[in-house]
Amino acid sequence: MKPFVALIAITLPLCFAPAHASLELAAKSKCMMCHDVEKKKMGPAFKEISAKYKGDKAAEAMLADSMLNGVKDKWGKIPMAAQKIAPVDAQQLSKWILTL
Ligand code: HEC
Repeated sequence: MKPFVALIAITLPLCFAPAHASLELAAKSKCMMCHDVEKKKMGPAFKEISAKYKGDKAAEAMLADSMLNGVKDKWGKIPMAAQKIAPVDAQQLSKWILTL
């Protein structure tokens, strides 16, 4: 049983590497305190954000800007403060959110 579980644990992250890496980055960047992929928490669900900006070519840069500089009055009464993340991470997270 144990080796089998270990094999799954090794191969699963490899299969889903790109998506997994970004979810991990989001978790590491503490985004998941306020966001969830599927459900609204304090902030909007990442899937909701993706749906809102689908087809908007400027969205990737705009969302990264929201993360780096903060954003308010777009989704509700609660603002999001500027996140302490590197611009490259903001870019990657933005790209990932728009694929959801
Ligand atoms: C303290 C809670 C909190 C944390 C931590 C947080 N967010 Fe947010 N986020 C919010 C709230 C609240 C909003 C809605 C703001 C509004 O209505 O304009 C939001 C909005 C957003 C939006 C939509 C911006 C737009 O322009 O429409 C994105 C994208 C986003 N967050 C990504 C992230 C990412 C990525 C992280 C981690 C680096 C993160 N958030 C961390 C609370 C948070």
